[in-house]
Amino acid sequence: MVVELVPKVYWVGAIDWTLRDFHGYLTEAGTTYNAYLILDEHITLIDTVKAELVPEMMARVAEIVPPEKISYIVSNHVEMDHSGGLPEVIARVRPEKVFCSPLGKAGLSRHFKQDWPFVEVKTGSDLSLGRYNLTFLETPMLHWPDSMMTYLKEEQLLFSSDAFGAHLASSERFDDQLPDYPPDYFHQLKKYYANILMPFGTLITQLLEKVAQLGLAFKMIAPDHGLIYRNPAWVLEAYRKWAAGEVEPKALVIYDTMWHSTEMMAEALTQGLMDAGVEAQLHHLRRTHYSDIVTEVLDAGLLLFGSPTLNNGIFPTMAQFLTYLKGLRPKGKAAAAFGSFGWSGEAVKLINQELEAMKLKVVHEGLRCKYIPDPQELDAARSLGEKLARENLKGK
Ligand code: FEO
Repeated sequence: MVVELVPKVYWVGAIDWTLRDFHGYLTEAGTTYNAYLILDEHITLIDTVKAELVPEMMARVAEIVPPEKISYIVSNHVEMDHSGGLPEVIARVRPEKVFCSPLGKAGLSRHFKQDWPFVEVKTGSDLSLGRYNLTFLETPMLHWPDSMMTYLKEEQLLFSSDAFGAHLASSERFDDQLPDYPPDYFHQLKKYYANILMPFGTLITQLLEKVAQLGLAFKMIAPDHGLIYRNPAWVLEAYRKWAAGEVEPKALVIYDTMWHSTEMMAEALTQGLMDAGVEAQLHHLRRTHYSDIVTEVLDAGLLLFGSPTLNNGIFPTMAQFLTYLKGLRPKGKAAAAFGSFGWSGEAVKLINQELEAMKLKVVHEGLRCKYIPDPQELDAARSLGEKLARENLKGK
């Protein structure tokens, strides 16, 4: 069935139902790669899909128009989930022009080493397709240097590339069609923001301000993953909050354990957090996927990291998690470390160094316990959890 967004503008993407690993991100609900076709005097394709899903995309195009009639291709983003299909599509369609940002041209040239008919566009560049007119908006580092968005003026429709996307394979294409819209989808939107866009909150805030200054209105936002928003106000508001680093009275205890001692401390700290009346979550690093934990990190105000000391270092799963989290540049969070040890107990100190490198607010020197915590030590951990929650989380 052909999916029409507005008159003569169609979704022609592909659905990746069984994808469960997107370069390490757990995509438990699959994803889509959204491409869009505009029928006008110059028939225009906006973005493509993963290389192996080109036949699915081209079949959707062929339901609307013979693919060879496409004259323009807009490439908003170089990453291979959107550009991987370009070589096959360009070979078949032979477009007159391929529009992209200057860094898009550089990136596509490095990826594919083809002499394609590139046309570089910048913020404010206009392109007439006939009846419809496009304006381009460079959005460097949202989330790659080359990233840009494309705005269809007459319909106030934003093709937003990865921004506002979510990894969800579904038979529905629009946000108001999901049976339980928006709570389930909201989780996927949040997970996507946390794992892909968290480092770029300041840029997102600047983009939203610039959009307001330019007076750009969005009746519809069509991202490159997940659903198309016919009611974009709620997704814009969610992005505003996340980009601003607004947090909830919520604390996470994130840990791994060898012989349950660090786990006992984690449970006691969690009890203390609950006693303070805040939302508390306990995550074992080998039972909750790291991409799900950072989803919860996004709006948490207090993070407690627990690791035993293994061979004078941080337990490997915690070291991995801290590396991933550091790259996401979380902000506006208090943090502390804890852990048991048998010999020298360096893990807490090493975690503190990582937290300081992330510019998190370290609010305690770290709680350590030799071998197995006794009841007094567990009570001290519970009290510490309660104290840290009361001192660092507002609105409880
Ligand atoms: Fe969906 Fe940055 O690619």
